Amino acid sequence: MTQNIKGFSKLTKEEKIDWITQAYFTNPAEAKTVITQYWNNDDELQKLHDEFIENTLTNFYLPYGVAPNFLINGKSYTIPMAIEESSVVAAASKAAKFWSERGGFKTTIINTEKIGQVHFLFDGEPNELETFFNCIKPKFWIDTDNFTKNMQKRGGGIVNIELINKTNELENYYQLHASFNTKDSMGANFINTCLEQFAKTLENEAQQYAPFQENNHSVQVVMSILSNYVPNCLVRVEVACPVDNMSDDKSIDGKEFAEKFATAVKIAEIEPYRAVTHNKGIMNGIDAVVIATGNDFRAVEAGVHAFAGKKGQYSSLSHVSIANGIFTFWMDIPLALGTIGGLTALHPLVKFSLEMLGKPSAEELMQIVAAAGLAQNFAAVRSLTTTGIQKGHMKMHIMNILNQHHATKEEKQQVLEYFKDTTISHSLVVDYLENLRK
Ligand code: MEV
Repeated sequence: MTQNIKGFSKLTKEEKIDWITQAYFTNPAEAKTVITQYWNNDDELQKLHDEFIENTLTNFYLPYGVAPNFLINGKSYTIPMAIEESSVVAAASKAAKFWSERGGFKTTIINTEKIGQVHFLFDGEPNELETFFNCIKPKFWIDTDNFTKNMQKRGGGIVNIELINKTNELENYYQLHASFNTKDSMGANFINTCLEQFAKTLENEAQQYAPFQENNHSVQVVMSILSNYVPNCLVRVEVACPVDNMSDDKSIDGKEFAEKFATAVKIAEIEPYRAVTHNKGIMNGIDAVVIATGNDFRAVEAGVHAFAGKKGQYSSLSHVSIANGIFTFWMDIPLALGTIGGLTALHPLVKFSLEMLGKPSAEELMQIVAAAGLAQNFAAVRSLTTTGIQKGHMKMHIMNILNQHHATKEEKQQVLEYFKDTTISHSLVVDYLENLRK
């Protein structure tokens, strides 16, 4: 049965919880306890979280862990990660340690360009619009001057604005395609504010432009919005070492491992089914740091996957080469991140993360996040091509199974001891626990 309510957002938090628990739960009192036990005891802190979004009922926790021993461009970092998946932090830490003993991660910022577009319709000839655009172009800078001043002081601002003709794909459709430098902020609000002013300027100027009046032409703005596709907000991350040094385990030969690893990456380059999962492993590392540093992981996800498909077929973001006995593993990844603005000065844990990282600039954060992504990818592909993924994964997941079955401290110890060196599966763990309890 659908339950509808009018004026829900006007209710107090308690009233909202009462309505929800009574409308949807067989045991409203128990449901209320579930939701209210996550409230923070500190009223100020709770209020802060309440006001992040509309209709807040409670907080939804994610574990916040750290992966130490990341050596990036010769500097050592402990990286914060907010993620629920059992094995991710352990895998990142392991890969970080492995590469810190082999020179660490090398990263380079390739570019930091952000993009925004005004999408509009024009019913005249393309060359008439072009003449008009060239004549009014400086007005876009003049009309946005009052809110771009601060960004300009920081060395950023509107970099360029182009007129793009898309009429071959959609009748009368054109764009103002603008590029921005937003320095240490992610820049979404800055870009969208500029774009909305561009749209006003475009319409106003078109209304006053005599040739358009004479020919009865008009500009109709459809929408103005930044793009999360940022192929030129790009960072490169790389690790390299002699193939003989690729194994830290006597059971496998370094060269053999390097070659098998390289083949696994080549498979992800040519096979989309594998590429998606391969890149998901990269995003395990990326998203966890993006969330812990208060950035928008949906924006990052959308941009990264579009980039992975930019050649028309979805492909691996990371690549391997083995040349002259050297194994090199790298990726270029688009990351539009900020270390000022947004949640960065607001969320206490975000502030904590950024301070732990040494208050990085946006460019430095791009490099840290990229290293976390490549580390995660290395750890996953190494497991896949050696022990198989389940060994490490289930080792971490076993605690979830035990908690799900309310295992006591003693039971946990006994189960962990037993499964130290044997195959772990959900049913094997549950069977063993049940036997213990008999
Ligand atoms: C699981 O979250 C991620 C992996 O599937 C990534 C991969 O297959 O490369 C292990």
